[in-house]
Amino acid sequence: MENTGGVRSATARAHSNIALAKYWGKRDAALNIPAVSSISVTLDGLSTDTTVRFDESLGTDEFRLDGRLVPADHAQSRRVVAVLELIRERAGLASRASVTSANNFPTGAGLASSASGFAALVVAASAAAGLDLSARELSILARRGSASAARSLFGGFVELHAGIADDGSDSFAEQLLDGEAWPLEVVVAITDSAVKAVSSTAGMQSTSATSPFYPAWIESSEDTVREMREAVLARDFRAVGELTEHSCLALHSLMLTTRPALIYWNAATVATIHAVRALRADGVPVYFTIDAGPQVKALCRPEDSQAVGDALAAVRGVRHAIRTGLGRAASLDVPPTDSFHSAPTAGTS
Ligand code: ADP
Ligand code: DP6
Repeated sequence: MENTGGVRSATARAHSNIALAKYWGKRDAALNIPAVSSISVTLDGLSTDTTVRFDESLGTDEFRLDGRLVPADHAQSRRVVAVLELIRERAGLASRASVTSANNFPTGAGLASSASGFAALVVAASAAAGLDLSARELSILARRGSASAARSLFGGFVELHAGIADDGSDSFAEQLLDGEAWPLEVVVAITDSAVKAVSSTAGMQSTSATSPFYPAWIESSEDTVREMREAVLARDFRAVGELTEHSCLALHSLMLTTRPALIYWNAATVATIHAVRALRADGVPVYFTIDAGPQVKALCRPEDSQAVGDALAAVRGVRHAIRTGLGRAASLDVPPTDSFHSAPTAGTS
């Protein structure tokens, strides 16, 4: 951390995560409080590094993402500035900030860049602002940027509570199980790294307004989360896997019944689902999940991840497959890292 001549800066790293029990929909859009609780695993191989510099000489906040200055009126900058405002307010700080961030994987493509991005932002910005916040407080702040970011504050298996308080004070994430306590792996099959046409934020707003399945989703989600929590704590891989696929397909049913329909899958997404089911029929315990994007994430045991990676990399339309273990909590400790392209891959097709 640097603190000289009107400049205070800090750098943080946070890892992306993938929900096993999904969130979709808000109970308060202004405070970004999720309508349902969710459970995720943090992914070691996908990460964001963010440096925040509060600088008294700056007239305005500046946001650079992946080497590019994002215009101040762009939604991406406004989202970052909104979180900086919360931190400035808390710290009693007036300085504007320059934020420089890099994702080591494609942004806005269904790999949860908003999760690692806002988790890294709140850890770096609060440290640079001189705040000493608990993990729970950081998680609540990250949630204001993106709900899935609340989970990326923690490593391993993580639950985000929807909560019931109007001010969102009980909507925070906490760790269920350390990754080392149950070292599962995830194979990410990349089918298309283009930015999606409809962001998660816009997509879920449309779903809650138009899908006839939305009330059933709200009603059934807490049971799914409770069963998932029990399965994780019992380290019951089959139960976790079956619930993961169920939650994923329930989410995509909601998306398909939204007007206009949200179809995030492509042909390779569907082919990869079938490849996962074929592996399972051959006796390899592996389960798929898919977020708001065309990539497929396959949850498996470490001893199967090479075979799963090879099988998914060979699916027609899969560009490459990344194998990753479970990630650590977001932190100010930022060791040098491999880039996305040199992350452990399971081959290409
Ligand atoms: P994804 O599947 O990548 O999470 P979303 O549409 O949910 O896609 O989120 C992408 C948005 O998250 C970006 O448009 C941007 O607003 C924000 N974002 C992504 N990376 C970062 C980052 N490193 N720092 C701050 N915000 C980020
Ligand atoms: C399908 O957390 O990106 O990945 O809170 O509007 O930023 P905002 O949405 P975001 O949505 C994540 C949706 C999901 C499921 C999940 O991660 O739980």
